[in-house]
Amino acid sequence: TYVVTDNCIKCKYMDCVEVCPVDCFYEGENMLVIHPDECIDCGVCEPECPADAIKPDTEPGLDSWLQLNAEYAVKWPNITTKKPEPPDAKEFDGVGGKFEKYFS
Ligand code: SF4
Ligand code: F3S
Repeated sequence: TYVVTDNCIKCKYMDCVEVCPVDCFYEGENMLVIHPDECIDCGVCEPECPADAIKPDTEPGLDSWLQLNAEYAVKWPNITTKKPEPPDAKEFDGVGGKFEKYFS
């Protein structure tokens, strides 16, 4: 499966939603997550994210992000259509500590 990681927070471009063939993205206030049981591992979303926030779970160190994606995919609503990104999305690209401050 692929997972959404911290740099999505407050960037939330939603380009990923447009390309996913199985609509397995779920929307929180400041980030999206992928439902690990629904993702078919096609990989098309990874290069589409302007914030480089989507990674395959085969990369090392992503266990906690995989858990977070699984946990919130069943709590948050499904999103199937891209909306406009936040007006300040660019200002948050690459900023550290976003999870602690803004995860929602
Ligand atoms: Fe959707 Fe494919 Fe990305 Fe999985 S890897 S979330 S199926 S676009
Ligand atoms: Fe987030 Fe990137 Fe999608 S910033 S909403 S994972 S396009």
